[in-house]
Amino acid sequence: MNEKPIGIFDSGVGGLTVCRELLRRLPTESLLYLGDTARVPYGTKSAAIVTQYALEAASFLCDKGVKLLVVACNTASAVALPQLRERFGVPVLGVIEPGARAAVTRGARRIGVLGTEGTIHSGAYERAIRQIDDGIEVFSVSCPLFVPLAEEGWARHPVAAQIAAEYLEPLLQKKIDALVLGCTHYPLLAQAIRQVVGSRVEIVDSAASTAEEVAQLLESRILQADTERGDQQFFVTDLPTRFRRIGSEFLGAKLHHVTQIQLGS
Ligand code: DGL
Repeated sequence: MNEKPIGIFDSGVGGLTVCRELLRRLPTESLLYLGDTARVPYGTKSAAIVTQYALEAASFLCDKGVKLLVVACNTASAVALPQLRERFGVPVLGVIEPGARAAVTRGARRIGVLGTEGTIHSGAYERAIRQIDDGIEVFSVSCPLFVPLAEEGWARHPVAAQIAAEYLEPLLQKKIDALVLGCTHYPLLAQAIRQVVGSRVEIVDSAASTAEEVAQLLESRILQADTERGDQQFFVTDLPTRFRRIGSEFLGAKLHHVTQIQLGS
């Protein structure tokens, strides 16, 4: 019997796309989600600052007794995973390795990666993909306008497809056969992205692949909950109002039980 929750964190609402997949894949698990809304975005900050924030977020969740940590932020996964794994005594899963594995498993040989400045600058996807198969070509582009578009609810506005066309042009020229959405905000823009890349490019959303890897990990360590249905609690570092409003679009459900907390000093 294991009734401990799974801990998940992101810089804000984006990680709720990972939460959504976890709820779908593992409905009996309880989830504790932390969105560091007071310090979002992480994508434009230095690796040192993002690592400090990630350690504080993880420490909050581990103090609550989680059995597993999911870093539902590509930027934090790109720069802070080794430190998180070293510091905390629970398994720590990021979103980059599952996304990279999913793209390679689907047979792609020329992979495009979209992400925040921090994620793209870190080269983490390139490393993760080449570690699996170093014959694969990887082409990366940062898309700083995607996060505000998703948060403003403009994901289906024609301007979203226009901006996507600008960002994707260099990748289409490289004749990519798969495209990794390397930011947890981007699944909301999948429709606009699909419109631009057409049906021949495989779109890989690392939220779904991460949920699948969490399921496998729990199974292999006999850590599954044996409840009928898990519950969810949400924590934020700024006022809950905006998180509740915007987050429900990312989660695909209404957000209940949102509590404001303080991280760091
Ligand atoms: N959700 C974050 C990620 O996956 C991006 C948002 C941010 O810049 O904080 O990288």
